[in-house]
Amino acid sequence: MELKDQINNERLPKHIAIIMDGNGRWAKEHGKQRILGHQRGVQSVREVCEACAELGVEYLTLYAFSTENWNRPLAEVTGLMTLFAQTIKKEMDTFFKNDIRLNAIGDLERLPESNYKMLKETIDATKDNKRMTLTLALSYSGRWDLMQASRRMAADAAAGIIKPEDITQDTIDNYLSTAGIPDPELLIRTSGEERISNFLLWQLAYSEFYFTPKYWPDFQKADLYEAILNYQRRERRFGKTSEQVTK
Ligand code: FPP
Repeated sequence: MELKDQINNERLPKHIAIIMDGNGRWAKEHGKQRILGHQRGVQSVREVCEACAELGVEYLTLYAFSTENWNRPLAEVTGLMTLFAQTIKKEMDTFFKNDIRLNAIGDLERLPESNYKMLKETIDATKDNKRMTLTLALSYSGRWDLMQASRRMAADAAAGIIKPEDITQDTIDNYLSTAGIPDPELLIRTSGEERISNFLLWQLAYSEFYFTPKYWPDFQKADLYEAILNYQRRERRFGKTSEQVTK
């Protein structure tokens, strides 16, 4: 049976988050410049988006550029910003054909003005698409997210809009940039690194982690199916005993 057909649609993760890693090493191993690795990475983004939409995954979140990535050489940062802009523009038809809503999280105001404007316009144009929400984490870090949420909560508390004693975990969820999006059940990281790298720190509390040695540009639909099948073989206990969850 094909890998895709082995997937149990009843136990599909609603939300998959991916740390797309290894573009630079892929480029180096192929004797190419780093930016070519990122360009090849776009093909994997397309494959994975299509596969998730076809399967019925409702939310896909991709770590495209971290707060720390601003410290890379200027030429790479500029190259990546150009690539993001070109890709989003080029994929506009794909978003509509596949009924995908584009979303972005992160300190977006740090992006070049033209990127920021184009991103906002695409987010607005696709806001009524229903099949899947594709969230790009751009200029994002989990600590930045917790900081911006804390600042806004403190400001609202000072203004009397919320009471400190009424703050619950749901309140925090609602102040994070991912408000309204369920926590990812599955986190995938490519390239053999096994770290969280300041991604969705709060939201990944109960996620299953899947690590693959493949570099991101080599990650194809079949690799996504493997990750989902691996996830489906696991027992998610949320702190309970095995007997409690299998009852
Ligand atoms: C990590 O690999 C990858 C990035 C920092 C950029 C990811 C961006 C893309 C795949 C382009 C996607 C485009 C859109 C529109 C989402 P790395 O450079 O850290 O690789 P290395 O660890 O091997 O050096």
